[in-house]
Amino acid sequence: SGVEQLGNMIAEASSIVPFTGAGISTECGIPDFRSPGGIWTRNRPIPFDEFVASQDARDESWRRRFAMEPTFAAARPGRGHRALASLYRAGKVPGIVTQNIDNLHQISGFEADDVIELHGNTTYARCIGCAKRYDLSWVKQHFDASGGAPDCADCGDPIKTATISFGQAMPEGAMQRATELAQHCDLFLAIGSSLVVWPAAGFPMMAKNCGARLVIINNEPTDQDDIADLVIRHDIGETLGPFVGN
Ligand code: OAD
Ligand code: ZN
Repeated sequence: SGVEQLGNMIAEASSIVPFTGAGISTECGIPDFRSPGGIWTRNRPIPFDEFVASQDARDESWRRRFAMEPTFAAARPGRGHRALASLYRAGKVPGIVTQNIDNLHQISGFEADDVIELHGNTTYARCIGCAKRYDLSWVKQHFDASGGAPDCADCGDPIKTATISFGQAMPEGAMQRATELAQHCDLFLAIGSSLVVWPAAGFPMMAKNCGARLVIINNEPTDQDDIADLVIRHDIGETLGPFVGN
């Protein structure tokens, strides 16, 4: 099944960098993007320039986000999150690189500074002009009061979940730290990602090119399976469950 091989690779490694996608959170009740029933099979993404230009797009974006709130609020870390947190507590993981926006790695026990969020975080919001931080409850209250997405109380620019939309600049600090982690680890674990969204999808190859062993855990094939040292085409919770420790 590959679990034994994975166990050996983890035992031999001294610096393991996990790289996660939406597939690690599906067992927590959060849909991924591209599987049947995934977010992008139901809704078209709203590109950043459209969000900036159109009040209708902002209203629609916030309506979608509020509709998802019960799902995000109820989600608890799954076996994958807990296994990675165990390796982190054991001192084998210097940091985790994630495309996920659900905050579950932090909730599972990672220090916020050690979670490198390439696509931001949906559990809070920011003004896209001055970066002032807003709680979602504040946005909801003002949305309900005025019947639409509110603007920044300080500068008047739009307020958006603290996530990265298509067409929006990648967070520079996160890209830099992810690069350093990928370049200096000896085992890179790509978990639950279709590996189709760039530049994020470049990190497994970067790690491999810098000498790390590469493991891909995903229940569907990816374009990068052929460069991996080990491919585990299987459920993440079942695969990582044996690595959940204390
Ligand atoms: P995707 O939905 O593209 O891929 C998730 C992968 O996880 C799929 O290949 C699934 O088959 C697999 N999967 C789901 N549940 C699984 C399970 N229990 N066990 C094993 N595999 C499972 O999600 P991402 O690769 O994370 O970005 O998507 C990348 C980016 O595209 C996201 O960060 C988001 C999205 O657009 C932005 O919006 C900028
Ligand atoms: Zn502002």
